[in-house]
Parts: sequence; structure tokens; C-alpha cells
Amino acid sequence: MMEEFIHSYRVKPLIIKDKRVLRDSYTPSSLPGREEQINRFHNILSDLLVDSPPDHTSFTGKPGTGKTAVAKHVTGKYKKEYPDLRTKFIYINCSQANTAYRVMYQLNRALQVLVPPSGYPYDVLYDKFMDAFYQLNKRLVVVLDEVDLLVRRDGGRLLYSLSRLNYDLPEELSLTLVVISNTADFLERLDPRTRSSFEPTRIIFPPYKQPQLYQILHQRAELGLKPGTWEDEALHIIAAKVAQESGDARRAIDVLRMAAELAEKEGANKLTVEHARQALETVNEEEIAITVRTLPLHHRLILAAITDLMEMKEKQKVDRISTGRIYREYKGKASKMMVPPLTMRRVSGILRELEAQGLIEIVMDYGGARGNTKVVKAMALSPSEMKKLLSSMGVVF
Ligand SMILES: Nc1ncnc2c1ncn2[C@@H]1O[C@H](COP(=O)(O)OP(=O)(O)OP(=O)(O)O)[C@@H](O)[C@H]1O
Ligand SMILES: [Mg+2]
Repeated sequence: MMEEFIHSYRVKPLIIKDKRVLRDSYTPSSLPGREEQINRFHNILSDLLVDSPPDHTSFTGKPGTGKTAVAKHVTGKYKKEYPDLRTKFIYINCSQANTAYRVMYQLNRALQVLVPPSGYPYDVLYDKFMDAFYQLNKRLVVVLDEVDLLVRRDGGRLLYSLSRLNYDLPEELSLTLVVISNTADFLERLDPRTRSSFEPTRIIFPPYKQPQLYQILHQRAELGLKPGTWEDEALHIIAAKVAQESGDARRAIDVLRMAAELAEKEGANKLTVEHARQALETVNEEEIAITVRTLPLHHRLILAAITDLMEMKEKQKVDRISTGRIYREYKGKASKMMVPPLTMRRVSGILRELEAQGLIEIVMDYGGARGNTKVVKAMALSPSEMKKLLSSMGVVF
């Protein structure tokens, strides 16, 4: 009873005002640092105001550079400011609609045509969509977000047919594509036929730099945290670190949320530089866990072998973690798991891969009489954390 009381008492947030603001799904009403991209897209769409078809457009930029946010912001503005525009805006995320069929299904739904989500002939779906389009008698602006995922499956055929549609449409109808991708060379990878007929106006989203990330974080803090509950310096530290690593706004906001949660959990009345530092660490650990979870079996076993040796080294039972030593340990693990071990050569290759992924650090050891050899000097997680993680993935220690 008492415990419950204390719990509910302490849970009352001191710092966080509105948690939704600190989540990825929230889009603020202004997007600091993306004024140029917003203006350009706004201008492209302004053809609609004189009832002309806007150019096809592509957004490219790394993850978290505001592509989805800008697309929604600008189309949302048109919808709100010009409710009588003879235009319909359709947003489709191709991570769910990653085949031509599914995109066509979504297009139909957007025009209120109900068709089965699978198993219909594609041509019928297409005809239904065209009928509804003529009936609607409006211009369409179709945003295909994460379009790389569609192109990977479909090779650009749908883009080809949709982008050519305008040639066959009467003057008062048009379909404008806005394709969003987080791979820079996405357009270059389309098949040559699609490429020659589909030449969108390009808007590029560079990674955010520190001042822009700071502005973004400041805006979130103002909206999501209570007044005076954060140290400005904490925001600067997050902005600097994320700018240096990736320039990804999603990550910066994530770190801010975690720092605020850490501060809450401690019962602190301010989010400090120290909370920001801790949160930056936590994000890293999560990323390492994601990387480790995608490793194939032998990579995991080798990492497990290194983990054991790291632990022994901490207890001073081993003085250097050489490739040979790792190989012996790994062979033991493989036989425990009843899988035939890989060759030493292959294991050396995997060690280089693990290093490239930032999971281990390898240095040359000039061991005097014992000769020179490569040794593992450090691992991205502590042995106990790595053990926990690998055990959760079925590795036996
Ligand atoms: N300029 C900005 N101002 C405020 N918030 C921003 C800004 N840019 C991005 N964000 C926020 O950062 C997060 C990621 O942005 P967004 O989803 O637009 O990235 P993206 O470029 O579409 O990334 P991905 O390629 O991974 O889809 C969202 O929560 C978004 O609201
Ligand atoms: Mg996006």
C-alpha cells in the first residue's frame, strides 16, 4: 500500500510536459533548418494554384533528414490553405505497399474504391483506379515514401507507367509523383527505360549540422518539457554529438527523450548535461544490440569466444587475446553447438568484419619473443553485457 503510494507519487512527471512531442510520430508545425526544401517544394506545387500540373519531384537524403516531415508539412499546408483546390493529395508509404499491386490497392482506396487487398488481376485494379480518377476529375499528387522498397521489388515498372500517364490524360487531369528515398543514387539505379521517361525535379536533404539540430531540439524541449527544466548545454551536447555521427534528427530527438526519462527516473528537477551524456551512451548500446542481433551464427560464436576471453583477461587468466587463442575457443563453442567449425582463414576474415562493424577493436601486438600477432584489444560492450545479449540469441556459454 505504502509502496504503491510512493510509486504513484514519484511517477508524477517533473520535467516532461507532453510525451507525444518527443516521439517520432509527432510533426511540429514548423521545421527549423529545412526552409529551403520547404520553399522549393512549395513552389513546385504552386502550379496547382493556376490549375496546371506540377513537375514530378524526388526527395533524397539520409534517414532522419526531414523528408517525410517536409512532404507532410507542405501538402498539409496546401490542403488547409486552399480547401477548394482541384487537387487530391495521396500519401503512400511503400514500406507497407512494396509491390505495384499494393500501391494500386492504396490508390484505389484513396479514391474510395474498395478492392480486395490481394488476388485480383492487376489490370482490373488499374482500370478501376483510372475510372475513379476520371470521375473525381481532380489533379492527383501522389507521395510515394520509402520508394526504394517498391523499386527493389518492382524494378520501377510502376513508376514508369504512372509517370507516363500524363501523356494520355485530358488537360484538366494530371498525376504528379513525389518519390522519397534515403539512398542518394536511387534514380540512377532505375532501369534505363524508366530513367529516361521519369526525370523528376530533385530536392536534396543534406544531413543536419549542429546548429540545425540544436534548433530542432530546442523546439521539442519548448513543446514537450516544462519551462526551465533543462540545461541548454545539454541540448548543445546532443546536437554536437549527433551532427558528428549522422546528422539524423530522429536520433537527436530520441536522445532527448531518453535524457528526459533518465532525469525523471532519478527524480531530478532538471535535465542536465550528465543526463544527456548518459542517454547518448544508451542509444549506442541499443545500436550495438541491433547489429549483434543480425549477425550470422559463426559470427556470434566468434564474438562469444572473444567474450569469454575478455572475461578471463579481466581476471588476469589470459594476457593477450590473439587470433590463435580466439580460434581455439571458437572451435570449442562450435562443437558445443554441434556445428562444424570454419577454417582459421575464414575466422580471420570474420574478425575483420566484426571490427568493421565496430563490435571489436583489433591491434597489432609486438609480443617480443612470442612474435607479432593481431590481438583483440576491446569490445563494444562489457563481457557481461555481451554475454547477456548473446545468450538471449541462443548462444550457449
Ligand atoms: N527540421 C525539422 N524540425 C523539426 N523536426 C524534424 C525536422 N526534421 C526532422 N524532424 C523530426 O525528426 C524525425 C525524423 O524525420 P523524418 O521522418 O522526416 O525523416 P526522413 O528523412 O523521412 O527519414 P527516413 O529516411 O528514415 O524516412 C521526425 O520525428 C521529424 O518530425
Ligand atoms: Mg521518412
